[in-house]
Amino acid sequence: MKKEPSYETAELREFARVLRGRRTVDQYLQTKVPDELVREAIEVATWAPNHYVSEPWRFILPGSETVERIIALNAEMVAASKTPDHGEHKRRVWQEKPGWLVVTCRRSDDALREREDYAACCAAIQNLTLYLWKAGVGSKWTTGAVTRDPRFFDIIGSDADAEFVVGMLWYGYPKVTPTQSRRPLDEVVTKLP
Ligand SMILES: Cc1cc2nc3c(=O)[nH]c(=O)nc-3n(C[C@H](O)[C@H](O)[C@H](O)COP(=O)(O)O)c2cc1C
Repeated sequence: MKKEPSYETAELREFARVLRGRRTVDQYLQTKVPDELVREAIEVATWAPNHYVSEPWRFILPGSETVERIIALNAEMVAASKTPDHGEHKRRVWQEKPGWLVVTCRRSDDALREREDYAACCAAIQNLTLYLWKAGVGSKWTTGAVTRDPRFFDIIGSDADAEFVVGMLWYGYPKVTPTQSRRPLDEVVTKLP
């Protein structure tokens, strides 16, 4: 008789450990993450499901000049909306972020298509962050106001009529790994007859 395949494997437990263990990281060591590892993370990201295989994503790797411009724009925006001190604080905090990546999604005239493309981009980001996490690299997905400002699109060389920002990601080796919790499964599962 053929035995049922067991799902209780060490490999599967390890996979679940990575899924549960990934945390949004805010504080990083200044150790450089290898460019090749980031390229691999982007490559595996593109294996996310995407309806009609639309591949709606773009992964932008800003160099130090571009990062400086993003930091300056954000500091200016925060200073204008809060106080100059807040702006300077943000400048210092953002200057500590070792790795930067911007993920954009293609716009569509069809609202459903755009929604599905956005979902695909989110799935791609999750692939990317999980791969980095397994390699010991933490990340943070941010959707701050700067990522919607027209000046941001100029800085990253993007046409705001053609694409929108799904997230800006910081990445690096964690200095501090926060803890998190989730609601019990019974609160989020609905079983129907
Ligand atoms: C679409 C999206 C946007 C996010 N934007 C921000 C953000 O602007 N600032 C922030 O601190 N965290 C942001 N996060 C990260 C969440 O705060 C984080 O996932 C949440 O606190 C749960 O922590 P965990 O990722 O460690 O499980 C974002 C996450 C997602 C999915």
